[in-house]
Amino acid sequence: MRSIINILDLSVEEIDELISVANDIIVHPGNYSERCRGKKLATLFFEPSTRTRLSFEAAMYELGGNVIGFSEAQSSSAAKGESVADTVRTISCYADIIAMRHPKEGAPLVASLNATVPVINAGDGGHFHPTQTLADLLTIQREKGSFENLTVGFCGDLKFGRTVHSLIGALSRYKGLKVILISPVELKLPSYVKSEILAPAGIEYVQTTNLEEVMPELDILYMTRVQRERFFNEEDYLRLKDSYILTPAKLKNAKEDLAIMHPLPRVNEISVEIDKDPRACYFKQVLNGKYIRMALILKLLQEAGTI
Ligand code: CP
Repeated sequence: MRSIINILDLSVEEIDELISVANDIIVHPGNYSERCRGKKLATLFFEPSTRTRLSFEAAMYELGGNVIGFSEAQSSSAAKGESVADTVRTISCYADIIAMRHPKEGAPLVASLNATVPVINAGDGGHFHPTQTLADLLTIQREKGSFENLTVGFCGDLKFGRTVHSLIGALSRYKGLKVILISPVELKLPSYVKSEILAPAGIEYVQTTNLEEVMPELDILYMTRVQRERFFNEEDYLRLKDSYILTPAKLKNAKEDLAIMHPLPRVNEISVEIDKDPRACYFKQVLNGKYIRMALILKLLQEAGTI
């Protein structure tokens, strides 16, 4: 049974195909509106979410399917001590595909080993978030036309930012990538991402604390929120939370065709004045997330022989 836990579970060719299907859905939504008639998606969210859960649900409805699920652990039998393995064995009796978010790294992998239907990782702790990466890739493809020869600045909480870890993994497979890592020293990219992804792929990267200094080089600026829920103490969070706040003045030396991205939710790290800048792409990412999740649900249900 094929599940998607890490973006690297998908080959470059499969990602190209998903992007192509998502672009076709955007143009011809009516061709897809009955494709999942009678099928059910279960959204098992043990952690808060707005975009990921609701875009998965919107995606399944727009494919003609139905949705069941829960949006917090407390409203499921996890609150009584049920294991992830038993939960997904149970849900496999009711649904054709599962999207699961969990605060513990590896929980969706455990789910995939125990479910009898495909499991999609909708974010596991500070680890990975492959479907956000698919939304990011669709946005980059639509904005830039290619994944090659890009200089991408990742800014903010690179330690706990799972969307950053997944997107670096995905982009590392394309030619000419240059990565600029902009963060406070305490929130640097984990060494496992450097040793397991950047180094083997021979990706050039630099680390800095100064966003304005590197701004002129960037084709994409990927801003992130400081992840309060992953900090061990509130004092550290309060000290670091406003390390980077993107304002129009800070974009003075940016490229005319810079793409400003953010997985959202935003707290304070992008001033709302930037929203009207044509280079702001973060609400496009939100919409693209629904289309690419439609493409992914279709792919996994087709491979499982369910549709
Ligand atoms: N980008 C993202 O994962 O947003 P949510 O936490 O709202 O799902």
